[in-house]
Amino acid sequence: MNILVTGGLGFIGSNFILHLIQNHPDIKIINVDAEVLGSNKKNLTHLKNKNYKYVKGNITNKKLLKKLIPRVDSVINFAAESHVDRSISNSEPFLKSNILGVYSILDTIRKNSKKTKFLQISTDEVFGSKSKGSAKEEDIFHPSNPYSASKASAELIIESYLKTYDLDIMITRCTNNFGPRQFPEKLIPKTIIRSIKNLKIPIYGTGKNIRDWLYVEDHCDAITKVLLNGKNGESYNISGNNLLSNIKLVKKILKNLDQPEELIDYVIDRPGHDLRYSLDSSKIRHKLGWKPKQKFDKSLSETIDWYLKNKSWWKDLATKQMLSPTPWKKYRK
Ligand SMILES: NC(=O)c1ccc[n+]([C@@H]2O[C@H](COP(=O)([O-])OP(=O)(O)OC[C@H]3O[C@@H](n4cnc5c(N)ncnc54)[C@H](O)[C@@H]3O)[C@@H](O)[C@H]2O)c1
Repeated sequence: MNILVTGGLGFIGSNFILHLIQNHPDIKIINVDAEVLGSNKKNLTHLKNKNYKYVKGNITNKKLLKKLIPRVDSVINFAAESHVDRSISNSEPFLKSNILGVYSILDTIRKNSKKTKFLQISTDEVFGSKSKGSAKEEDIFHPSNPYSASKASAELIIESYLKTYDLDIMITRCTNNFGPRQFPEKLIPKTIIRSIKNLKIPIYGTGKNIRDWLYVEDHCDAITKVLLNGKNGESYNISGNNLLSNIKLVKKILKNLDQPEELIDYVIDRPGHDLRYSLDSSKIRHKLGWKPKQKFDKSLSETIDWYLKNKSWWKDLATKQMLSPTPWKKYRK
């Protein structure tokens, strides 16, 4: 099997490539990444494997896609602008990568390689805030910020290509991931790194916003199951049922690092900040036999250890801008 992974120098993409090489060493992988914010070449520099090839490139570049896609059986699209706060400051890169990029992949498959399977990595954020209950695959989208709107738009374009051109497409939607190699701008690494540096830990609003956390390795396992056994035209929600408010999560990290709760600093909330995300993942559990293997507290503690042991990975990335307490704020008119 030959696969094209896009965005494989980012957090989940790099973990997915390492997961595949370890568990399915026979699969040949081409990784295309534009090396924009979120990527880190160090994520895979240690990877020397005859079945892995890296190409620097953009998923909006149809010429490049036309060369690569006919060579592979499947495309798995992780490539995206992924930070909500940055989408509030400047949504254009999000619309380009997350919508035009997906369109470019779909159209290349339609015109050049109809047998190639396409797996889109989407997000729970497309459903918007769920004050109670959990979103099912068929629920209506209610995105609240330019990032989630761009991911929801991509899904609608995918649905149109599925119905109009009869392509082989699947979608996964996952809740918040955590684990090694996540960019310092995201909540968990930012909290760990600021805490290591004895800096105040910013909490948006009341800190009561709830997210459902999944260890990245469990997400990679779920994606692999969908890739190998998922059904054409279907979407699969992926969640670990670890619902936690931001304030409880931050307190757990501080406790783990022996830091006082006095470091917590409540800051002005982000506009359009969804209160609660929750997915019903019974479909993937029943149909594909997936369930998370990792326990939340243990994997959180391992993630903290990873950041403690890999300062050289984040030292140059942990700039003032990346660790800003309110990165969206400076862009407000
Ligand atoms: N991180 C999460 O908690 C989470 C949860 C659910 C879904 N997702 C989805 O998973 C995917 C990966 O997320 P992540 O957290 O690893 O993001 P990330 O920002 O760490 O990595 C994204 C990668 O995509 C690359 N990229 C961006 N635009 C590109 C383009 N136009 N062409 C080629 N490469 C491009 C970047 O260089 C980067 O390496 C995204 O599609 C995201 O929407 C993430």
